[in-house]
Amino acid sequence: MKNITLEIHYEEFSGIEELDRDDRELCEAAVKALDGSYAPYSRFNVGAAVRLADGTIVSGANQENAASPSGLCAERTAMFAANFSHPGVPMCSIAIVGAQNGEICRDITSPCGACRQVMAEYQQIGGRDMSVLLYSGGRILKFGRVDDILPFIFDNLQGD
Ligand code: THU
Repeated sequence: MKNITLEIHYEEFSGIEELDRDDRELCEAAVKALDGSYAPYSRFNVGAAVRLADGTIVSGANQENAASPSGLCAERTAMFAANFSHPGVPMCSIAIVGAQNGEICRDITSPCGACRQVMAEYQQIGGRDMSVLLYSGGRILKFGRVDDILPFIFDNLQGD
């Protein structure tokens, strides 16, 4: 038997001006994506923006439905749109932001487990790390790769 401890690393910024130009632009795109949120049930708006390896940014926002499981989170809306419209182009980073009553949340909106699993697979098929930026009106967190927010992913591509 072995006892193993995992460590994760992330960066914390206190404002958007501390980010590099690409990350700032991606966070701004996530904020803009909030306009496309359809969340009449939870009234919680989420915006996400994915940067592809060729520099393209694809955005998405949460889409709800009266039959609640039929809705979709912002992150998956953005990633599925990205892989649909730019198949095979690796995803390098994703920015996520939440808002309520037209105000960006003071604390981070952290992606749900299902979205993390989808990020992990796109990172894997992209063959490069995908960074995850959690943007808020307060602090901003940056994780260098999806593994830092989801270790031990379900990996059905193993050995491919
Ligand atoms: N939501 C997202 O879009 N992303 C997340 O990471 C967490 C939750 C959405 C789903 C639903 O429309 C609303 O937030 C409230 O749960």
